[in-house]
Amino acid sequence: MKVNSENILTVSKLTKSVQVEAKTLSLLQPLSLEVKSGETLAIIGSSGSGKTTLLSLLAGLDVPTSGEVYLKTHALHQYNEEQRSEVRANHVGFIFQQFLLVSSLTALENVMLPAELANLPDAKAKAESLLEQVGLSNRGHHYPSQLSGGEQQRVAIARAFISNPDILFADEPTGNLDSKTGLHIENLLFDLNEQHGTTLVLVTHDQKLAKRCERRLEMDAGSLVEQVSSDEIKQANSKEDSLEKEYSNGAGV
Ligand SMILES: Nc1ncnc2c1ncn2[C@@H]1O[C@H](COP(=O)(O)OP(=O)(O)OP(=O)(O)O)[C@@H](O)[C@H]1O
Ligand SMILES: [Mg+2]
Repeated sequence: MKVNSENILTVSKLTKSVQVEAKTLSLLQPLSLEVKSGETLAIIGSSGSGKTTLLSLLAGLDVPTSGEVYLKTHALHQYNEEQRSEVRANHVGFIFQQFLLVSSLTALENVMLPAELANLPDAKAKAESLLEQVGLSNRGHHYPSQLSGGEQQRVAIARAFISNPDILFADEPTGNLDSKTGLHIENLLFDLNEQHGTTLVLVTHDQKLAKRCERRLEMDAGSLVEQVSSDEIKQANSKEDSLEKEYSNGAGV
């Protein structure tokens, strides 16, 4: 397949099926997508629609059942685990839905880890600087169990940026946070994204966060069904706001 050099991702007829007992379960329907370098893209959709499954294929964490995924010119669908791991180390940052920090490592060591694995120089100094950017410079020696959910999420964000990825995948980066911390994390993502020119692919249930992205796609039962327009997002937000008002006026209790 011919890959447009402006694309960081070129996806063609991607599918994913898994075997559950005797049955084949189809998680992704044939799905095609192009993402340009530097773009910000939100993927929305209901729980179980396949967002995390798609992200893990785009990031080379998993392999498709059929179809093609190119990250730049790297044919991830043809690569073995070792080759994909090298592409990830050199190009990809990933913020997992459940953070996935290493519990036996301190915050600083967690942030340093991808840089050390990729043999990048100055891992410690970079990690310290990133922890400072996420407001955690005084918590570097703390273990994940000693940090709040929001603090762990910020460590995960710092870790995702340490190897200056070309593309950052963030799976519900503000999913478990209160609105103030969520907004802080969100600003951080877009700031860091601007500073590093990193392509951002966000999975979110938060319409306001989705609206900050240049493009929005919606997943439904394993298919990318539509590109949601800004008008529809506005409508959804105003509906959400009026429901919130109704609730705070006592109608919801
Ligand atoms: N290894 C697996 N084996 C069987 N079913 C799976 C497997 N991985 C995912 N699924 C199923 O595939 C569907 C899509 O899962 P996925 O985690 O991609 O959803 P999601 O859109 O990220 O949902 P959420 O918003 O809840 O995180 C779900 O129904 C899930 O149960
Ligand atoms: Mg998910």
